[in-house]
Amino acid sequence: MGHSDQAGTPPVAPPAQSQLQQFWMPFSPNKEFKREPRLFERAEGMYFYTPDGRQLIDACAGLFCVAAGHCRREISEAVYRQLQTLDFAAPFLRGHAGAFELANRIVEYTPAGLNRVFFVNSGSESVDTAMKIALMVHRVRGQAQRQIFISRERAYHGVNMGGVALGGMVNNRRAFGLGLAGVYHMRHTALPENRFVKGQPQSGVELADDLARFCQLYGGENIAAVFVEPTAGSCGCLPPPKGYLDRLRQICDQNGILLVFDEVICGWGRMGANFGAQAFGVTPDMITMAKALTNGAQPMGAVAVQQQIYDAITDAGPERGIEFFHGYTYSAHPAACAAALAMMDIIKKERLIDRAREMSSYFGEAVHSLRDLPVVQDIRSVGMLAAVEVATVGSPGARGHEAQKRLYDRGLHLKSTGESLLIAPPLIAEKKHVDEIVDKLREVLAVL
Ligand SMILES: Cc1ncc(COP(=O)(O)O)c(C=O)c1O
Repeated sequence: MGHSDQAGTPPVAPPAQSQLQQFWMPFSPNKEFKREPRLFERAEGMYFYTPDGRQLIDACAGLFCVAAGHCRREISEAVYRQLQTLDFAAPFLRGHAGAFELANRIVEYTPAGLNRVFFVNSGSESVDTAMKIALMVHRVRGQAQRQIFISRERAYHGVNMGGVALGGMVNNRRAFGLGLAGVYHMRHTALPENRFVKGQPQSGVELADDLARFCQLYGGENIAAVFVEPTAGSCGCLPPPKGYLDRLRQICDQNGILLVFDEVICGWGRMGANFGAQAFGVTPDMITMAKALTNGAQPMGAVAVQQQIYDAITDAGPERGIEFFHGYTYSAHPAACAAALAMMDIIKKERLIDRAREMSSYFGEAVHSLRDLPVVQDIRSVGMLAAVEVATVGSPGARGHEAQKRLYDRGLHLKSTGESLLIAPPLIAEKKHVDEIVDKLREVLAVL
């Protein structure tokens, strides 16, 4: 309590019990949370602080966003300055310098050729935008029949209707009707023989042949795009088997199918490289991104596309008319651009991505040291992302959920998904922070 920001604004007081009902919380057990709320009041660097002054280490970069650590002055000051100068610029028909500069800065990091950037406000919007780009580029190339999308079991591609159709986590789909027609799911890559593998597993490349089977069954010429997370993140860190992404690329090329990497989590250093594309040496046709792009300080996402895709759609349009009928009121919002530009400066100045690469083997070893705990049934890791999976007891997910609550109470924040505890610290994490995370996990998991 009592902390105030630089402008002297006091933090919002923690809500009284009677004030907890009105906010319908996303992806949260509302009834339980409102009985036993777990709040944050402020954050700095590697840590969150609760209203009663407790410190929690952030083992999940908030929600995979805060790669440069919390409350970076460079970002908040850039946003403040921006809001005082140009708070909003109509994004349709008008532009502002920050949007163009940011697109230029982003393409310094994307693989060669992916040098056109469409801005959105979230990972979910980036996915649905990429689906529309895929449909449209095939149409202008005279292949309007390409309307099928392929994704994967256990995938997470956000919560908009396109992303839900692509998604492969049942609870995210089962309540929401039939979804889009023509979306088929390859098998996931979590094989029993890959338990406790560090980095990319040796087994599983053949799972990519599911795509070849879909090409035979539905006609490769009818498939618009394949969406995969290079490492499946939200479902519990599934790194791609060796050769798997290359094989997908090959089958896509053979059949004229676009390959989209959903890098909302993998992008911006999490895999120990700019993007998963570089980490795994496979270049997709589009990359979706969000989260760490602004360090989580402003909502923003983007789709980076191969120039030929942009050229095809743009050249097909009229000389003075709109070419792509898509965009959001807040696309390339000036404050989000300012935050992302400040983040680009931090990434460069602090060698954030190199640091992630350098720390990843220490991080991987440290997390895998939890293997001896009886409750732990699998550990997977790659770059600065890991999942510790505990054995199910009672209903599926109950134990993982209980673990993340106890970890909060013990001073550690992370996200659980099913029985997997996702560990993705800010990329500024030092060895002592990794140790603190692993020590706290050990203490809680030993008696879970
Ligand atoms: C791979 C992937 N795609 C899309 C999304 C959705 O992003 P958002 O929650 O910003 O809409 C996420 C979020 O975790 C993600 O991990």
